[in-house]
Amino acid sequence: MGQSIGTLFRGNLNSLGGGTSITADEIARNINLTGYTAIITGSSSGLGKESARVLAKRGAQVVLAARSIEGLNEVKALITAETPTANVEVMHLDLTELKSVRKFAEDFKQKNLPLNILMNNAGVFAKKFTPTAEGIEAMWATHVVGHYYLTMLLLDKIKETAAQSGIEGRIMFTGSEAHRVTYKGGINFDALLDPSLYTAYQAYGQSKIGDILLARMIGQQLKSEGVNVVANSGHPGAVKTPLGRNFFEKGTTEVGYQVSKPFIKSPEQGAANLVYVAISPDLKGVSGKYFSDFKEISPSKYGSDDELGQKVMKYCEDFVASRMSA
Ligand SMILES: NC(=O)c1ccc[n+]([C@@H]2O[C@H](COP(=O)([O-])OP(=O)(O)OC[C@H]3O[C@@H](n4cnc5c(N)ncnc54)[C@H](OP(=O)(O)O)[C@@H]3O)[C@@H](O)[C@H]2O)c1
Repeated sequence: MGQSIGTLFRGNLNSLGGGTSITADEIARNINLTGYTAIITGSSSGLGKESARVLAKRGAQVVLAARSIEGLNEVKALITAETPTANVEVMHLDLTELKSVRKFAEDFKQKNLPLNILMNNAGVFAKKFTPTAEGIEAMWATHVVGHYYLTMLLLDKIKETAAQSGIEGRIMFTGSEAHRVTYKGGINFDALLDPSLYTAYQAYGQSKIGDILLARMIGQQLKSEGVNVVANSGHPGAVKTPLGRNFFEKGTTEVGYQVSKPFIKSPEQGAANLVYVAISPDLKGVSGKYFSDFKEISPSKYGSDDELGQKVMKYCEDFVASRMSA
């Protein structure tokens, strides 16, 4: 916790914010999403909220998902005030509770809607070790296990929609350049259970390696199956949101905060690369890759490690099996 962000990123400051001020609105401007359905996790705030606003404005039916129904309803009201024809639904989802994830997927399927786009975006930054009710570290539970389970439960629906509509299905995981700051060996599975091994930035970083690896492994799998669905991950930049402010908070990381200030994006700018990965025709057929500022970039050696990716997939599969059969 004592390290500055500048030290943590070892001088790679471009990775904090990237170099563009393009907004999500600009990315989506010429794209018609009428007839599409998108689920966006973490859409009560920040990047998910902005992504939802833009996709709804382009004509997509958008399902807003997070824990706070009140927050989601506020976002729905803002979107429909701007776009009165917008088709927006609010659904409760707690990614740290597998039963909530399963209920969300079942309730969504009951609606008999297509599913073209899944944006696995929700996130938290926990300064202190916070175990979930299911017994693991909260950032890993939210970013990795919850999104893995949600994706597995909805994968058939995404494939079915793509096959019936002929439109490529898209799965987007919100990664982060913060994945470059992590524990020795990339992912320390013991640190998911042991508070004495916890350091907040490393724990956040390993959860973002998890997101990047999930996109990589699921993306590669979809490609090898030859289905019309892709999965990729994207870095938004360093963005002024509640999570971003907490991450770059003055006081705990004063030097890093000052150094990173000029690079910090607005949510409108931060959502641009996420929306790009979710809808841009430029990426047709591209799967298992990681993007920053509309360009494919290489993740760290851990974020490119297929063996580690298999371990993450197996961890999630076993965790879900153990908790859901209990
Ligand atoms: N901001 C940055 O600088 C930055 C940089 C790189 C990557 N990211 C990533 O971007 C994503 C979005 O973050 P943000 O900056 O937009 O943060 P934010 O404004 O704090 O939004 C986080 C969202 O996630 C939801 N959420 C948190 N825990 C959840 C849970 N257990 N189940 C379901 N939803 C949950 C929150 O809603 P509820 O609290 O209502 O559930 C909220 O809608 C995260 O994955 C984050 O890691 C952010």
